[in-house]
Amino acid sequence: MKALELEEISVYYGPVRGVENVTLDVEEGEIVALLGANGAGKSTLLKAISGIIHQKQGIIKFFGEDFHRMSPHRRVVGGLVHVPEGRRIFTALTIGENLELGAYGTKTGRVERSERLSEVLAMFPFLKEHFKRLAGTLSGGEQQVLAIARAMMSNPKVLMIDEPSLGLDPQKIDIVYDLLQEVAAIGTTVLLVEQNVKLALEIAARAYVLQQGSVVLSGVSSSLINDPRLSDAYLGKAADGDH
Ligand SMILES: Nc1ncnc2c1ncn2[C@@H]1O[C@H](COP(=O)(O)OP(=O)(O)O)[C@@H](O)[C@H]1O
Ligand SMILES: [Mg+2]
Repeated sequence: MKALELEEISVYYGPVRGVENVTLDVEEGEIVALLGANGAGKSTLLKAISGIIHQKQGIIKFFGEDFHRMSPHRRVVGGLVHVPEGRRIFTALTIGENLELGAYGTKTGRVERSERLSEVLAMFPFLKEHFKRLAGTLSGGEQQVLAIARAMMSNPKVLMIDEPSLGLDPQKIDIVYDLLQEVAAIGTTVLLVEQNVKLALEIAARAYVLQQGSVVLSGVSSSLINDPRLSDAYLGKAADGDH
């Protein structure tokens, strides 16, 4: 079953191209990476999938269902969650309050919400220990863990995460990446945006590489890692070998 199918998605910011004619798919249970240099269109694509910006053109299917005309909120309720770049946790609220907000609007019953909270805290023992601590006192890596846990509160089928390693030291990156693998191991499909190619290809089964808004390369991680066209895409060279 395909969790996500994108057909010819284009997004513009006025005259500026965000992404153009992007076609890709993600199988249920897969970790797929979306790679590319700064400005390649990775964040734009995630925002179009979650509906926080409007695409000009294209089709987005979520488990076979047309998604692109739904409100962002309905997409979350449907099982799609987006952890944006820079984490965006509420620093003036506690860890517990941040987590409770993650379930807001998706779980109607109080009992159901508190059950979900117990499940998530079991997965993230650090957050359980520091439940009442203000989120603003956490380190960058801890805030990223909280952002992932908050996303898991809505019990998503698909988790999209934008540059989780950004600004973190290597040890914290390992913690965050281990968690992402745990999230995938319980059956969550993951669409991972990264600039750090090596890191992303270690956990992703497949990847798509964006350059100037378009997919220039895609394939299984094990073959991409040694593909010279991958570094070309980062250095801004033409991907068709025309250089
Ligand atoms: N809010 C915006 N207004 C205008 N242009 C934007 C905006 N956001 C992104 N862009 C442009 O869209 C392109 C893709 O950006 P983005 O999706 O942020 O790339 P990435 O996440 O891969 O770094 C870039 O040329 C960028 O300058
Ligand atoms: Mg970005």
